[in-house]
Amino acid sequence: MKVLVTGGLGYIGSHTVVELQNEGHVVVIIDDLSNSSKDVLKGITKITGVTPQFEELDLKEKYKVQDFFKRHQDIDGVIHFAASKAVGESVDKPLFYYENNVTTLIYVLQELQKLKCQNFIFSSSCTVYGEADKLPISENSPIKPAESPYGNTKQIGEEILKDSCQINLDLKTIALRYFNPTGAHNSSHIGELPQGVPQNLVPYITQTAVGLREQLSVFGNDYDTKDGTCIRDYIHVTDVAKAHVCALNRLFKNQQSHNFEVFNIGTGKGSSVLEVIQSFERVSDQKLNYKIVDRRQGDVISAFADTTKANTILGWESKYSLDNAMLDAWNWEQKIRNK
Ligand code: UD1
Repeated sequence: MKVLVTGGLGYIGSHTVVELQNEGHVVVIIDDLSNSSKDVLKGITKITGVTPQFEELDLKEKYKVQDFFKRHQDIDGVIHFAASKAVGESVDKPLFYYENNVTTLIYVLQELQKLKCQNFIFSSSCTVYGEADKLPISENSPIKPAESPYGNTKQIGEEILKDSCQINLDLKTIALRYFNPTGAHNSSHIGELPQGVPQNLVPYITQTAVGLREQLSVFGNDYDTKDGTCIRDYIHVTDVAKAHVCALNRLFKNQQSHNFEVFNIGTGKGSSVLEVIQSFERVSDQKLNYKIVDRRQGDVISAFADTTKANTILGWESKYSLDNAMLDAWNWEQKIRNK
């Protein structure tokens, strides 16, 4: 099948392209290179032996999006990653986030709906649940008011899909709500490339260990959790990538019970910040320089997934442990710094 992957040179996008090509799909990537690099194509080629088609395109340019879809009417499915994802930045630049994450989704859907095959996978996030009332978090957990414009773009994105699916029964969509994707491909040919100072925990850890940052700040150790630090569901990015292949197969095989479905993508296991640090120290044989500081505003205390729905309906489950993810993240970090 021919699959369009928007944002296919980004972190989760590139790992998904690898898994799609491993399954024999033909991939076309659109990426504006705003938070990625053309070098990622080389990494994908090294792993799979196939160079995907690539077009540098900014999805905010509506006429270029129209032109792209006119030239690719034989697309069988779209996986839409292209979006900005920095929570803090979204607070500073809300209009940019709504344009970049919401307007572009609309442009892609407008063109997709002109095609014969209207299969669509949307990158959503566990951020839609906010501080959930019940753990583990199932897909039935209520959606809480978004804490940031970024979080809001994910909620609005899901609403746009739901509304579009109501009136267009040819449109078949799945939203995947990722928990905390982490790690890198175990070949170390592709991985995360955060721009500037990382906002997320794992790249901050590996950059500290490699000497790029002086010290990791652990945001709060007075939460009501096992060791006082926040709990998250860290899932290996390759597991996340494979979930997209399973979701796409469900669409291709016409197996949906409703044309808008959502699935949690996590491991089902919650780990504290200190447990992540311990895992890193164990697999890397490094001592990490860290200190406890004040809580970070907007952090939820605990979030980990009930993955029953994805396990039973998508036939997908996570395979990699936190240690696997931390080792792959560490190998990747060392590789890119020693280039
Ligand atoms: C964050 C976003 C989430 C988004 C995801 C994208 C918030 C509230 N949530 O998730 O919406 O989908 O990124 O990847 O921003 N931590 C430290 N020190 C650090 C960095 C993080 O202690 O330098 C802690 C945090 O307090 C948190 C955990 O590590 O407890 C994970 O943080 P992070 O990697 O930023 O992910 P989330 O906040 O879960």
